[in-house]
Amino acid sequence: MSTPIEAPGGVGSLADLRKLSDQIDGFLGRREGVYLFKLAKLGANRGVVVEIGSWKGKSTVWLAKGSEAVNGQVIFAIDPHIGSPEHQQQSPGKVNTEQEFRANMARAGVANRVTPLLMTSLAALAGWTKPIGFLWIDGDHSYEAVSQDYYGWLPHVVDGGIIAFHDTYYWEGVRRLVDEEVLQSQGMRVLGQLDGILAIQKSPATSLTDQFNLFLVRRLRRVFNRARSQRKPWRALPRKLLRALAWPRH
Ligand SMILES: C[S@@+](CC[C@H](N)C(=O)[O-])C[C@H]1O[C@@H](n2cnc3c(N)ncnc32)[C@H](O)[C@@H]1O
Repeated sequence: MSTPIEAPGGVGSLADLRKLSDQIDGFLGRREGVYLFKLAKLGANRGVVVEIGSWKGKSTVWLAKGSEAVNGQVIFAIDPHIGSPEHQQQSPGKVNTEQEFRANMARAGVANRVTPLLMTSLAALAGWTKPIGFLWIDGDHSYEAVSQDYYGWLPHVVDGGIIAFHDTYYWEGVRRLVDEEVLQSQGMRVLGQLDGILAIQKSPATSLTDQFNLFLVRRLRRVFNRARSQRKPWRALPRKLLRALAWPRH
């Protein structure tokens, strides 16, 4: 049975949204999509939603539906639509995802809520003035690029705004930024780690609960990364535990 969504706006049920998302080629797991939807519901009333890296729009649809569910703000979907360095290496000069992206937005009924910006995140950042309620970082995954995305856009995220990173376990550049810098900062509250997504809130981690969450996520990520590199048979456990603890509930 499909789970009704407890929000106005004719968004549909979670089962409908999963079906919609399944039809879009992309790099987001089903559970991750639902988590992104819930994060967008939290952030989309605090300021605009910015997506860095749309590909064909799988994550964009979850973001747009989450925002729609709370009558939230528009999504700025930044992507030059020529693929990441690894896509360009595989098919030099041949990647162009713009038409498919636009068609997927129209099919999902969210084209009026999504503003595509056909440029790199760095180009979009120049002259940016809008306060951001939710920043989703899923563009170039090299350490240099993801750091530039995080530190460059962070000043535009409102206090209490949400930031989420994708591919935080298996992509070395993102993993390094998250483990060595983001999770070492006391200026952020950790909301949760669900599969590859790490979600944080721009708000000082002052309470004991915040400190404990930060400690737990750091520690379980470390245990998972080590167990994975040593191919321990129980390596999935810390990852599952993090998923079970992730907030908002999924
Ligand atoms: C991993 S894919 C994004 C997947 C997408 N979020 C999904 O749900 O399927 C990475 C995307 O980032 C884009 N990209 C690469 N470098 C970028 C940059 N500097 N700024 C914005 N987007 C970039 C690529 O064109 C590619 O479409």
